[in-house]
Amino acid sequence: EDQNVRVAAICDQLITLEGPLLPILHEVQEEFGYIPDGALQTIAKKLNLSRAEVHGVASFYHDFREEKAGKHVIKICRAEACQAMGADALGDQIRRHLKVDWSQTTADRKITLEPVFCLGLCACAPAAMIDGKVVGRVSADRILEKVGS
Ligand code: FES
Repeated sequence: EDQNVRVAAICDQLITLEGPLLPILHEVQEEFGYIPDGALQTIAKKLNLSRAEVHGVASFYHDFREEKAGKHVIKICRAEACQAMGADALGDQIRRHLKVDWSQTTADRKITLEPVFCLGLCACAPAAMIDGKVVGRVSADRILEKVGS
């Protein structure tokens, strides 16, 4: 269908790059907001890889989503400096409140929670990114307030 035609076109456009898989995945996610399941097969065929290999790469990087994100995206830094400042407890609080695990979206499709590994705000840990904006020294309350939850 349309989606696969578009994915195939993206592959054709980027296939001559050295190491085309990541650029292709990025472009597909840019286009659809996630990596549709059917896209894996199309990409695999184009690049002469197995579907499992493409899936392995796509799931290794935290950048790629398997389904469309919610209206708001909360990314919480889980790297060292932020962990030292309570990022784990912060993540627990948010997950409990939203009733989601990492990389999941709330049942009402309003909020997606994702881990991220260093936002360059280590001096203001714990750090988060809310709808593309970085915030330092965050608390669960402040995060939830920003997404209206
Ligand atoms: Fe969290 Fe760097 S470790 S912003």
